Amino acid sequence: MDRDHWYDAGLPHVWLPYAQMKTMRPPLAVARTDGCRIVLRDGRELIDGIASWWTACHGYNQPHIRSAVERQLATMPHVMFGGLVHEQALTLARRLAALLPGDLERVFFSESGSVAVEIALKMALQYWRNRGHPSRSKFIAFRGGYHGDTTGAMSVSDPDSGFHHMFRGVLPRHTLMALPRVAEGKELLSGEIERHPGQYAAIVVEPLVQGAGGMVFHDEVTLRALRDVADRYELLLIFDEIFTGFGRTGAMFACQEAGVVPDIVTLSKALTGGTLPLAATVARRHVFEAFWSDDPKKALMHGPTYMGNALACAAANAALDLFEREPRLAQVRAISEQMARELAACQELPGVKDIRVKGAIGVVEMERIAELDALRARFVQEGVFIRPFGNVIYLTPSLTITPDELTTLTSAIARVIR
Ligand SMILES: Cc1ncc(COP(=O)(O)O)c(C=O)c1O
Repeated sequence: MDRDHWYDAGLPHVWLPYAQMKTMRPPLAVARTDGCRIVLRDGRELIDGIASWWTACHGYNQPHIRSAVERQLATMPHVMFGGLVHEQALTLARRLAALLPGDLERVFFSESGSVAVEIALKMALQYWRNRGHPSRSKFIAFRGGYHGDTTGAMSVSDPDSGFHHMFRGVLPRHTLMALPRVAEGKELLSGEIERHPGQYAAIVVEPLVQGAGGMVFHDEVTLRALRDVADRYELLLIFDEIFTGFGRTGAMFACQEAGVVPDIVTLSKALTGGTLPLAATVARRHVFEAFWSDDPKKALMHGPTYMGNALACAAANAALDLFEREPRLAQVRAISEQMARELAACQELPGVKDIRVKGAIGVVEMERIAELDALRARFVQEGVFIRPFGNVIYLTPSLTITPDELTTLTSAIARVIR
């Protein structure tokens, strides 16, 4: 098959994400990736500003991850996790439990972030059922939040964040509140729970950064307030660290930065260094103990077919090796300082509303972006892959990006806005 044939013959048969297929610009054809670069079929090279939706934290085609996956492929690509276990998954579970704070120690594997969130919600619901409180079936979530595109995940996301407005009214109804950024917010949250005694199962939040809902930051005080309220009213606290986990905000996990131990945490994205799909829902001991019983009905009834996939777990173990061996968190600090310095140049440009940086996340918020697709195309002309959404232009590069590559990204943003 010649080089163009696969594109022209295949494109009419795929349905692309978040895209109006009729009016969208044709997608870029990628031939390969390398480090922080995406190489297009026509030979152009783009410096990647978002690391494939925040997954490729060690850069693309990382040799250590690649050889771990190749070794695993030769031995056993996959085996079902029902009744069978294997070294890569058990080793990964042990390592995640050791890395996470407190007694977050039981790891339930799945294959995508949204499914990890579904599992967290089911765990919370069944936790209360198993303990004899079936009426505790509602969740409190926050405006600006995004937790994935499956039904349960959508039901705890903000429909106004630009993803799920079409499904308003048909999803399970939970409670969406403003994040308690100040003392008054904490009181509002407590008031809501007190008005509905015995109804709430858990609070769900993206800690420190609400990502896909607009790259909005909050601080540790907010997370500690959530922990206090959850403790006071005996609700479970779920941290969705699918975006923030693995160094993105500056610590290995946002919960560590905040000094808060949630009851359940979800992980995915950078877990395999962007190599293979894998997610984990990790529960504290007391959550797991609510399922520990002689009664088979109290078991957690969930089991994705590709759960604990051996290739993906091998990639994740290799990705964790790199966090141990290489100075990733120091690199995040350097990226953070450089982004803050260089993006400051955009402050005075027309239409810029706010510049903010947290860890390896750099955001230029615009008053509005009229033509998203045109803006995305301009970035490609500049030799960079940056994918603004809503009114936000953001960078979440690989944590291994070089200073020169990062400058190419920040200066492309300044040039394009100007
Ligand atoms: C915080 C958060 N939760 C959940 C998800 C959903 O993950 P996935 O796209 O792997 O289903 C995302 C994806 O962007 C996310 O950022």
